[in-house]
Amino acid sequence: MGDNVILVGFMGAGKSSVGRLLARRLGRCFVETDDMITAQEGRSIPEIFAERGEAYFRALEEETVRLLALKSGDVIATGGGLPCRDGRPAALQAMGTVVWLRGEFDAVYERAQRAGARPMLAGRGRDDIEALYRAREPFYRQADLTVDTTGINPDQVVAKLLLLLRAKVSLSSLGRGLQGQEPT
Ligand code: S3P
Repeated sequence: MGDNVILVGFMGAGKSSVGRLLARRLGRCFVETDDMITAQEGRSIPEIFAERGEAYFRALEEETVRLLALKSGDVIATGGGLPCRDGRPAALQAMGTVVWLRGEFDAVYERAQRAGARPMLAGRGRDDIEALYRAREPFYRQADLTVDTTGINPDQVVAKLLLLLRAKVSLSSLGRGLQGQEPT
């Protein structure tokens, strides 16, 4: 298993800014699945959606997940829809620690709208987007760790996340220590 840190969450959750900061803090490489796709296709995500449609984009994501399996020790920010397929959360967990950046819908919605250029938001009303958010929650919820991002900035999210990651590492080494002990 590659010991990557894989960030998942809805559009506007802050995966890119948190991922970049976290990678710097840990001295790791930062990778975005959307960047892997645009580099491979030679066109932007909105262009891919406009010219080839969502199904084609999802097939590119599928291919990207296969490439992610080759990575080790990276911080990876995934596109908002990437973990939301049956079996996908487990596939990501096989590659490292999956972290859900969870934000209240209102906050995430507002940020996603502000950042613009998101084809999944184009032509959709607020209720429709909230329905998409709710439909995706069960996939995000399968993450190994959850950080609530509501009301805090990316620096604060990274601070929280580092605490959780360190606690997870100490717990797993404690687990290994216990397994090695002979019963008395
Ligand atoms: C998508 C989210 C986008 C991008 C694409 C589809 C989605 O990434 O992958 O526009 O389905 O939620 P961000 O979550 O970084 O906006």
